[in-house]
Amino acid sequence: MKELIDFKEKIDKDKLEEVCKSIKDGSVIVFPTETVYGIGANALDKSAVKKIFMAKNRPTDNPLIVHISNYDMLDKVVSNVTKYEKILMDKFWPGPLTIILPKKEEIPNIVTCNLDTVGVRMPSNKIAINIIEKSGVPIAAPSANISGKPSGTLVTDIVDELKDSVDYIIDGGISDIGLESTVVKLENDVVNILRPGAITKEDILSTGLNVVLDKHLFKDVQENEKVASPGMKHRHYAPKVKTILVYSNDEKKEYDRICDIINENNNKKIGILGFNENKEKYINKPNVKFMCIGSKHDLNSVAKNVFTVLRKLDKYDLDLSIIEGVEKQGIGLAIMNRLTRACGYNVIEL
Ligand code: TXA
Ligand code: MG
Repeated sequence: MKELIDFKEKIDKDKLEEVCKSIKDGSVIVFPTETVYGIGANALDKSAVKKIFMAKNRPTDNPLIVHISNYDMLDKVVSNVTKYEKILMDKFWPGPLTIILPKKEEIPNIVTCNLDTVGVRMPSNKIAINIIEKSGVPIAAPSANISGKPSGTLVTDIVDELKDSVDYIIDGGISDIGLESTVVKLENDVVNILRPGAITKEDILSTGLNVVLDKHLFKDVQENEKVASPGMKHRHYAPKVKTILVYSNDEKKEYDRICDIINENNNKKIGILGFNENKEKYINKPNVKFMCIGSKHDLNSVAKNVFTVLRKLDKYDLDLSIIEGVEKQGIGLAIMNRLTRACGYNVIEL
């Protein structure tokens, strides 16, 4: 890494220019967006994009999202936009929504892993928009993390794993949302949610469009099964320690079940990822280490913390960890999607 740049307080114009020039010259950078940090490069530069795959150790069949800052750039990237896709753009861009669209030839196949579609997003984060706009090129950027690990939402979480493989890391503080963008694809005029995020099913329904959830959001992909988005096939967000997700809308039922698991494993060191409000219930148990994932009355706080807390799990020498789930509504759907995958589909719903 050439430099860790601090844009938390303000964007330094000269530094911004230096970074943007280096992007045009083929650099790879870590930069903030409103969802999670991205590891990005000029989407039109094959060898720069290749460096992203190497830095992340990313499977070569998992395509990258292309980030744009204006609609002229969209025209350079995709060949067609339907009126339904336009509705989504008007309502949710700039913001945490990625739309899968037919790609133009100019986008190299390495970006899309030979698919004829490309995921496009116009982020709202000021630093991200400035970088794309000043570079003047679309930026291909997956989440900034080694493949399989939780996405980076804080520079301190990812600096060690990425510093040797990128040119600049730009610190913009903690990511506002904390979960990756909602990924959608229009099919027969229906919005298919391929990855849930902060733009919720309810938000999309409010535009008058029909919405369906992909069948793999909470179900593991079987061998040889076809998927709508390659990312669904790959193990993700997973801590090393065995982890169970427990959820019931009856709080007592959920707590009793978690206590049963703690008692059955009283010779083991157990991590609980739970809500602030439940801390008192767990902290006196001798074999338990409690970690807070936010407030149960504020799911946005859970979204913001969840990846950092998942990363912490492996820092304590645990034998087992248990996560308190949330209702699959609003952003809760995206939180449960990430947690379900983090647990390797080891879920108890009561
Ligand atoms: O919020 C975000 O989306 C962040 C920030 C940096 O923008 N990026 C991100 O990228 O999460 P990544 O690469 O970690 O996730 C992209 C997801 C993957 O699951 C990938 O399979 C899917 O989008 N995807 C990309 N292009 C696709 C395509 N053409 N068709 C279907 N799925 C696609
Ligand atoms: Mg990712």
